[in-house]
Amino acid sequence: MSKGKVWLIGAGPGDPELLTLKAARALGEADVVLVDDLVDRRVLAHARPGARVIEVGKRGGCKSTPQAFIEKLMVRLARRGAIVARLKGGDPFVFGRGGEEAEALEAAGIPFEVASGITAGIAAPAAIGIPVTHRDVARGVTFLTGHTHDGSGPDWAALRATGTTLVIYMGMKRVAALVAGMLEAGFPADTPACAIQNGTLDTQAEVVTTLAELPAAATEARLGSPAILVIGEVVRHARSAAAPAADSTTRCAA
Ligand SMILES: C[S@@+](CC[C@H](N)C(=O)[O-])C[C@H]1O[C@@H](n2cnc3c(N)ncnc32)[C@H](O)[C@@H]1O
Repeated sequence: MSKGKVWLIGAGPGDPELLTLKAARALGEADVVLVDDLVDRRVLAHARPGARVIEVGKRGGCKSTPQAFIEKLMVRLARRGAIVARLKGGDPFVFGRGGEEAEALEAAGIPFEVASGITAGIAAPAAIGIPVTHRDVARGVTFLTGHTHDGSGPDWAALRATGTTLVIYMGMKRVAALVAGMLEAGFPADTPACAIQNGTLDTQAEVVTTLAELPAAATEARLGSPAILVIGEVVRHARSAAAPAADSTTRCAA
């Protein structure tokens, strides 16, 4: 019987020390590593010497390997008896299409395991001192994407009513539209807000400001992707912020 299997591995948000022990062990078992472009290449130090590394990056807007091709490749390699590591940024099941890949593997009868990773939506805020669910000011946290298939936005009024911190992935390109939607739905203009690019890496840069000021502040600081947006009172805990007021913006870059 074939020993082939697939590991769906979360490589964490960037800092290679945020890779889990399980992920490191799984990487060390793999014959082939399929790696996404947001994965910090230093984590490949845990791969077996001689393991084949295949780049399958698929950053929004850039040339990418089609998802269906990646899924077929995983199945083909595992059927040939290979142990395949599918290495993704953050956690594979948080905006990482790991769920689709798990379905494809299941449908093909390929055994697979998941090695969870630390998601950017928790680690990037934490890197500047923001506890996303500080119990004094947040009832929870909501993870959202700023980039939907059909361009539709969420129900901001309903989200506001939850009293949760909003953590937005893939939102930098649409930050102005996202903020306009929130303001229209009644979010106070002075709600603390921040954007963190390259969280946990040496290249990390952030702006800590207010909701209304966020698009201009992010543009002025030349922030781009990958970035996490955080909206809510918890942002007042940012180390770079002295309680943001309506007219205050703090910029930090490593
Ligand atoms: C396709 S999603 C993948 C998310 C990943 N699975 C996770 O759990 O973090 C890519 C988005 O994650 C966010 N992201 C990933 N790494 C990041 C980092 N180091 N700093 C800030 N945002 C990051 C950005 O919003 C980026 O556009």
